[in-house]
Amino acid sequence: MNMSHSIDRRAFLASVGALGGAAPLALRGGHVPSWLCAGTAGLPLRARAQAKGLLYGSSTLARYLRDDHAFEARFAEECGILVPEWELKWEAIRPAPDRFDFTAPDFLAAYAAQHSMAFRGHCLAWHESLPPWFAATVNRSNAETILRQHITTVAGRYAGKVHSWDVVNEAIDVGGGRPDSLRASPWLDFLGPDYIRIAFEATAEADPHALLCYNDYGIEFKWPKEQAKRAAVLELLGRLKSSNVPVQALGIQAHLRAGDPGFSADELATFLRRVADLGLKILITELDADDRALPEDPATRDQAVAKTYESFLSVALAEPAVIAVLTWGLSDRYTYFNKMRPRADGAPARPLPLDADLKPKPAYDALARAFDAAPARPGTGAVK
Ligand code: XIL
Repeated sequence: MNMSHSIDRRAFLASVGALGGAAPLALRGGHVPSWLCAGTAGLPLRARAQAKGLLYGSSTLARYLRDDHAFEARFAEECGILVPEWELKWEAIRPAPDRFDFTAPDFLAAYAAQHSMAFRGHCLAWHESLPPWFAATVNRSNAETILRQHITTVAGRYAGKVHSWDVVNEAIDVGGGRPDSLRASPWLDFLGPDYIRIAFEATAEADPHALLCYNDYGIEFKWPKEQAKRAAVLELLGRLKSSNVPVQALGIQAHLRAGDPGFSADELATFLRRVADLGLKILITELDADDRALPEDPATRDQAVAKTYESFLSVALAEPAVIAVLTWGLSDRYTYFNKMRPRADGAPARPLPLDADLKPKPAYDALARAFDAAPARPGTGAVK
C-alpha cells in the first residue's frame, strides 16, 4: 500500500475520529471512501464499525485507563464509544443524599472526548447499585423528587456530551407475578409503573441531545423464559410509545452464554424487527459470553465464545435499527465475571475480545468479521 494511500487513510480516520461521537453521523452525511470499506482488514474495531456507520466500544473503569497504560493504549485504539462500568451508578456517584462525586465520570467523559469516542451513560433508574443511605432516606413521599433531582443533576451535568443514556435498567421480571411483568423495585414500590415515564421525561428535559434507552438482559435466546421476557419488553415499549414517553432506543445487554444451544436467529431477528417497527433504535450494550459451562481448555472456550459472538452479531447487525455494539469490557484482564460469576474450576474467565495479555482472540475476529459483513447504515455512503 503506497504511503499516500495509507496517509490518506490514516488522515481520514483521524479526521473522522476527531468528530467524536458525531463521527457516524458525519459518515452518514459524508462519503466513506471505498478503500475504507473494502480495505478495513487490519483496522481496529472502531474503524471497521465506523465504515458501516456503526459504533463499537466497551465499558471500562476510570482506574483501568488511569493505571494500566498498555490497556489504555489498546482501549483508545479499538473503542469508538465508552460507557462507565460503575462510575455513573447511584452508589458510585452519590455518597450522600445531598452530595455527588463526579470525579471519575468527569475523567471518563473527558477521556472519551480527548480520544474522539462517544460517551454512554449507565444508568439512571435501576433497582441495584443503590447507595447505603437510600433505604433509610427514600420513601413514597419523596421518591419522585429524589429521582428527578438525581436525573436533572447527573444527566444535566453531561448534557450534550452523552451519545445515549440507559435511563431505566432491567425493569422487567417475568417471574415477578405482575400482569405487566414489572420488576419489584423501590421505584415501583414508591411511584408505581409511572416511575418509568418520570425517568424518561426528566432525562429528556435534562439532556435533549442524548438518545434515551430502556436497557435489559435475558432477551437473546429461545428458551421460554427469554421468549416471555422479549414479549414483556415489547409490550412495555409499546405502552411507553403509545403514551408518548420519550423512549428512543432499546439496549440489549447481550450477556450471552457460550455453548448454549438455545439460540434462534429467526426469533432474534423477528424481535429486533418488532422493536424497530416501534420506531426505536437498538444498541447492543454489554456484550460478552459466559464460558462457565465449557471445559477449562482456553482454545476450546475461545472458539465457543467466538462462535457465540458471531451467531448473535450476524443477526443483530443485519437489522438496520442496530446502531452500536459495546462489549462489557475489552479484555479478559478486567472482566467482571472473575469477581461476580467465577468459574467452578477457578480458571480465569475468557468472555471478551482481547485476552488478559491484550492479544486479540477469536472473539475479536468474530466482531471484526461481523462489522465487515454488516450492511452499511443509511447515509454512510459505504460501498457494499
Ligand atoms: C458490574 C461491573 O462490571 C463492575 O465493574 C461493578 O463493580 C459491578 O457491576 N452490567 C452491570 C452490572 O451494570 O450488573 C454488572 O457490572 C454486570 C453487567
